[in-house]
Amino acid sequence: MSARILEGKTFAAAFREEAGKRARALQEKHGVIPGLAVIIVGENPASKVYVRNKHNSCEALGIYSEVIELPETATKEKLLAEIDRLNASDKIHGILVQLPLPKQIASCEVEILQRIDPQKDVDGFHPVNVGRLVTGQKALIPCTPHGCLKMLQLAGIPIDGANAVIIGRSNIVGKPMAHLLLAENATVTICHSHTKNLKEVTKKADILVAAVGRPKFVTADMVKEGATVIDVGINRIAPKKLVGDVDFENVKEVAGAITPVPGGVGLLTVAMLMQNVVTACEMQLEK
Ligand code: GUN
Repeated sequence: MSARILEGKTFAAAFREEAGKRARALQEKHGVIPGLAVIIVGENPASKVYVRNKHNSCEALGIYSEVIELPETATKEKLLAEIDRLNASDKIHGILVQLPLPKQIASCEVEILQRIDPQKDVDGFHPVNVGRLVTGQKALIPCTPHGCLKMLQLAGIPIDGANAVIIGRSNIVGKPMAHLLLAENATVTICHSHTKNLKEVTKKADILVAAVGRPKFVTADMVKEGATVIDVGINRIAPKKLVGDVDFENVKEVAGAITPVPGGVGLLTVAMLMQNVVTACEMQLEK
């Protein structure tokens, strides 16, 4: 039997609606409009599309949005000064520096991201937020793994006691995903390029998350019958052809539920960013 397809658009719409509702409540109760600032450095075409999507999503939900466009040649000092200004702004509750940064400042990425006030760190990349997530405190959580967790919950996929296997150990997806599932009482295994007998590990997964960055890396023989398979990969294999990290056509015949690419978890990220902006605003008002 073919798997249940977990369509990103259904879940993203629900998450956006929730963000919009909470944004309106903030305005009614506190007279505050949540605000997001996105800094983009240079002319990366994909980044420009992502930033426009974020801006449009804010506008649709009544969230204030500022896009700061810096030239390709911008110095680290200029970028840090911009972050300082936004850290001090009453209108801005969330700050995001679009990645990747151009070559001349890419090596300063850690310093740049750490300059963002942790309370406004809507990417959840600041070590303060990472530490809060790991220790079970209220945190701003990276958007993609947070979206995956909320999708599993809304879809009614059991997490408590489940065997969850994550392929990939990035700071943006793999590691936060592991901590989120652990906090929901899954038994969590993280696999990576040095993992031995990968297939033996993935075959035991009730929930399998692929975040490797390799097209069709997860094949049907690696998946347990009835498992939930979440594909976080976005790999461009031709100018107009995107595929995930999962061999969707074959894996869907084994899995119980699966996310497609495109049209899967990629759609959740911006919706969760909207929620993070609202959450950041709520947390700042609580202080
Ligand atoms: N570029 C691609 N994805 C992301 C993301 O989640 N956050 C930031 N800041 N840049 C990105």
